[in-house]
Amino acid sequence: MSTKKSKLLLAGVMLAITGGAFAATDADTQAQLDAIKGAIPKFAVPMREVGDRFQNMYFAAKDGNWALAAYMSKYMNGAMNPAKLTKAEEYKTWKSFYEGKFAAVDKTIQAKDLNGFEAAYTKVIDDCNSCHKKMDYPFIKVVKMKAPADIGIDYTVKSEPGDVPK
Ligand code: HEC
Repeated sequence: MSTKKSKLLLAGVMLAITGGAFAATDADTQAQLDAIKGAIPKFAVPMREVGDRFQNMYFAAKDGNWALAAYMSKYMNGAMNPAKLTKAEEYKTWKSFYEGKFAAVDKTIQAKDLNGFEAAYTKVIDDCNSCHKKMDYPFIKVVKMKAPADIGIDYTVKSEPGDVPK
């Protein structure tokens, strides 16, 4: 074999090896990304938090802790963030629910309008449940609780809706 030919062959082998190595690295990285994504909650785990914060919000508003009500709403929405990555399509439906139908509840919190809040809150429960039906979970029917989900907070602290840090 001439030196020129063997040099070319060597270059070809090197290219094949490094090319292969890069491909393997890509596959490994992808597998690791998939594993991480698989460990991030989808809907069920954040919905548990949505459920609790939604119930707590009611008692906060009722007892005049308006900042706590606003805070519960803010983090009820924030709880769903993992689904942006793990259930991107379904997350869009959540986003349009929170920014659409749920905005009526938020508005009454910001206005400290308790009567308006009671009406909007009761109404939105049907919208929560419509989405459950639409997403094949008709057996998950939210009902208003008689006491907050979390009893470890004082709901009677008087506050303003704007008191929630940005
Ligand atoms: C975008 C559609 C959608 C909206 C809107 C929605 N949910 Fe859900 N919810 C789901 C899905 C889907 C599940 C089932 C979780 C799963 O296994 O994927 C669920 C499950 C739940 C659960 C059971 C969680 C558990 O595992 O214990 C509760 C509680 C809940 N939702 C509360 C609410 C409340 C309260 C609202 C309204 C403020 C709401 N949801 C709005 C889609 C929605």
